[in-house]
Amino acid sequence: MKSEIIYFKTIGDHRGGLIALENHHNIPFDIKRAYYIFDTKIDVRRGYHAHKNLKQLAICVSGSCKFLLNDGSEEHVFELDSPNYGLYIDGLVWREMFDFSVNCVLLVLADNYYDESDYIRDFNCFLKLVDKESQ
Ligand code: TYD
Repeated sequence: MKSEIIYFKTIGDHRGGLIALENHHNIPFDIKRAYYIFDTKIDVRRGYHAHKNLKQLAICVSGSCKFLLNDGSEEHVFELDSPNYGLYIDGLVWREMFDFSVNCVLLVLADNYYDESDYIRDFNCFLKLVDKESQ
């Protein structure tokens, strides 16, 4: 799986913390889009998709949530509970997000604009595409 946790340098002092995100420095792509998920209701599970071609970095800037990633052969659950690190997701990976805390703000950076045609929203179609790509 090409996904990994990326830790950020915190420029903290007695006033509090500060983290700067910069294209190709601590973010391994050019950021074209940023969106955030917040006010998530109790027991909500969302995501349920893969992308054909998109790099993303998810940072829980407040609270916590869990990220399930499945590349068709391996499955990992990552807990995001700090603004000090983010989950980098690249390649054909199925994702689901769950266990959002009430104060969770999940910031997602992406290397491309929103494009519904880049989404695979059916798990069986995802598995078929993984199969096809491995041949
Ligand atoms: P959806 O893909 O269901 O969110 P999640 O993957 O977090 O479960 O997106 C919800 C709606 O928001 C859907 O109608 C598409 C729209 N959307 C945008 O318009 N722009 C975006 O950048 C994103 C991520 C979603």
